[in-house]
Amino acid sequence: MQTSLHNLFEEFLKKPSIFINKEALTPKYNPRQILHREDQIKLLAQILAPSLKFEKPSNVLIYGKPGTGKTVVTKYVCAQLELSAKSKGIPLDTLYLNCKMKKVADTEYRLFAYLCSLLGEQVPPTGLPTNEVYNRFVKVVDSKPRMLIIVLDEIDALVRKQGSDVLYNLTRMELENAKMSFIGISNDATLKDSLDPRVRSSLSQEEIVFPPYDALQLRDILWKRAEIAFTKGAVDEVIISKCAAYSASVDGDARKALDLLRIAGELAERENANSIREEHLNEAIKKMETDSVLEIVRKLTKHSLLVLYSTILLSKLRDVLTTGNVYSFYCKLCESIGLNPLTQRRVSDLLDELDVLGLIKAEVISKGRYGRTREISLSIKGEILDKICELTKEVFGI
Ligand SMILES: Nc1ncnc2c1ncn2[C@@H]1O[C@H](COP(=O)(O)OP(=O)(O)OP(=O)(O)O)[C@@H](O)[C@H]1O
Ligand SMILES: [Mg+2]
Repeated sequence: MQTSLHNLFEEFLKKPSIFINKEALTPKYNPRQILHREDQIKLLAQILAPSLKFEKPSNVLIYGKPGTGKTVVTKYVCAQLELSAKSKGIPLDTLYLNCKMKKVADTEYRLFAYLCSLLGEQVPPTGLPTNEVYNRFVKVVDSKPRMLIIVLDEIDALVRKQGSDVLYNLTRMELENAKMSFIGISNDATLKDSLDPRVRSSLSQEEIVFPPYDALQLRDILWKRAEIAFTKGAVDEVIISKCAAYSASVDGDARKALDLLRIAGELAERENANSIREEHLNEAIKKMETDSVLEIVRKLTKHSLLVLYSTILLSKLRDVLTTGNVYSFYCKLCESIGLNPLTQRRVSDLLDELDVLGLIKAEVISKGRYGRTREISLSIKGEILDKICELTKEVFGI
C-alpha cells in the first residue's frame, strides 16, 4: 500500500468520530419509538385484534408514498400482536415477505416455496409442479389450528410480475383448521385499479393511508435518531430543522431525510469537523439532488436521452430553443451514431415526457397572429448537466 494512503487510513482511525452509531440513520435500524403514526398504529392494531380471539381479522391494504413508515409500523404492530398472543397461549404467527426481493415473488412457485420455508417446510427451488408446492403450503398451514397473518410488502411488485391470480389463490384458500389474513403494503396508489375485482374486494376489506410527513414530524423523527447516531453536540437544532424542512418540501420521505442527515455527517467527518455545519448540509442536499436526477436520467430510453442531450448542448449556444431546433440537432446526433431517428411528432412527445419528469420546460407560447410555438429550456442546471453529458457519452460510446 502506498505510504500516503496508509497514513490517511491511520489518521482516520485515530480521529474521534462524530458518529456513535451510524446504523441508526439507515433502514436497517429498528426504531424503538415510532413517532407521529399513532392513528395508523391504532387502526391496524384494531383491525388485527380479533385474531387474539381466534377470529379471522379483515385483510388490509396499506398505501402511502415511499418513506412514510408503512413497513416500520406494520412490523411493529405485528411484533406487538405476536407478544400478546404468546402471553395468552394463542398460536399466532405473522409472516413477512418483501415481494420486491429477488427470487421471492417472481413466480407462483417461488412465492409458495418461500412461504413454506418461513413455516419450516423446505421445498426444492425448482422441479416440482406448482400445484404440488401450493398443496404443500396448504397442508403445512392447515396442519393445526393456528392464526396466520401474512404481510405482503411491496405487493405492487408481485402484481406487476404475476398479475392478480396468485393473490386470488392465496386469499381464497380453503382451510379447515387454520385462519389466515393478509396485509398488503404498496406505495403505488393505482394498485387497486390493476387488481382483478374479486381480489380487490377481498384484499382491501380495510384500507389505511400513510400521508407524507410534514417538517415538524420529520424534525422529531430526526432528533430521536440523531441522539442515538451522533456524539453529543455533533448536531444542533438548526441543522435538524433545516434537514426536516428540506425533506418535507421535497416529498416528506423519512428515509431520505435520515439519509440526508447521514450524508451531512459523513461530509463533516471527512473534513475533520466536530459538528455538522450548514455548509455540510447544503453540500449533502446538492449530492442527493444530483443522485436523484441521475437516477431518473438512467431510466430514460435511448431516444429520450439523446433528446435531453441535444437540449443540453444547444442550450449552451442559445437561451431559447424550439422543438425544431432540438429535432434537427437530435437527427444529426442519430446519424452520427447510426441510429434511426424518430419522427418530429414523436420527439415532441418525448419533450413533453422530459417536461413531466422535471428535466426540461416545454412551454407553449402564443405569438399572436403568427400562431403558437413551443419554447424549450432546461429545468436543471449546474454540475448535473456535465454528469448527464458524461452518462450519454458512455451509453453511446461518443
Ligand atoms: N414515524 C416514524 N418514526 C421513526 N422512524 C420512522 C418513522 N417513519 C419512518 N421511519 C424510518 O424511516 C425509514 C423509512 O420507513 P419505512 O421503511 O417504514 O417506509 P415505507 O413507507 O415502508 O417506505 P417504502 O414505500 O419505500 O417501502 C425507516 O428507516 C424507518 O425506521
Ligand atoms: Mg416499505
